[in-house]
Amino acid sequence: MTSLSEKLRIFRGAVFETSSLRSNYVVNRGLDDYNFDLPSFSGIRLKEIIDLKLKKEKQIRLLDAGCGDGSFLLECALQPRWKNRLELLGITSYPYHDYSSSHNLLDNNGIQIHVADLHNLTQYIKPDSTDIVTSSGCFTYLAHPYIVLKRIYSVLKNRGLCLINMFTWSALSSEDADLLTNYLKGVYGMEIERDTISFTKTRSRLLLPLRYKEEIFNTSNNSELEFVNSE
Ligand SMILES: C[S@@+](CC[C@H](N)C(=O)[O-])C[C@H]1O[C@@H](n2cnc3c(N)ncnc32)[C@H](O)[C@@H]1O
Repeated sequence: MTSLSEKLRIFRGAVFETSSLRSNYVVNRGLDDYNFDLPSFSGIRLKEIIDLKLKKEKQIRLLDAGCGDGSFLLECALQPRWKNRLELLGITSYPYHDYSSSHNLLDNNGIQIHVADLHNLTQYIKPDSTDIVTSSGCFTYLAHPYIVLKRIYSVLKNRGLCLINMFTWSALSSEDADLLTNYLKGVYGMEIERDTISFTKTRSRLLLPLRYKEEIFNTSNNSELEFVNSE
């Protein structure tokens, strides 16, 4: 029988991209696109969230999870009013940025891009280190969205903010997805619409309720068992 870790390896391998892209696969959305496409939090949109954070802090750290070619990060770096006040990081599973030209532009503006799997985010970014996490057009490609959500929660600072679009619970049954959605709304105060999630970090970790674990351990559904094991 295939072991759980082997199954996870295959799942993640399958979702990891290659250089052949679908023609409608956008990798270069900019600041205005992000501001428009990402959900607001408490009615406040991304640009204003950054402005508000910068009123309180000299410098803030922003991570773009699934950053494509880094266009959004570059536009943030070039905004005159944010100049030298944003520490910008991106994670992408494929290096879309052209090393000969735009990579230098990213480098020259102090933007760090890691080519890595978001499921392993905490290997690259320290816990409690990040003020804002954005994720545009990425979650729909993830094998285990909950794991990545958990990793993002971990790297956020207390009161750090996260905005995600194109969210899906992937392989979860609709019952599990509803249960989880209601739990995250009720206990973690997350704002969850059809395919968007926004939240501020209010607890040290993102944990599933014990009752949910017990219910799932009592079922024989394999995909749900894998999901629980991610805790
Ligand atoms: C459709 S592109 C969106 C790019 C950019 N955020 C934008 O809106 O233009 C999806 C991005 O998610 C990244 N991605 C998908 N699965 C990933 C994974 N498992 N780990 C890291 N990045 C991933 C892709 O490499 C790509 O950068």
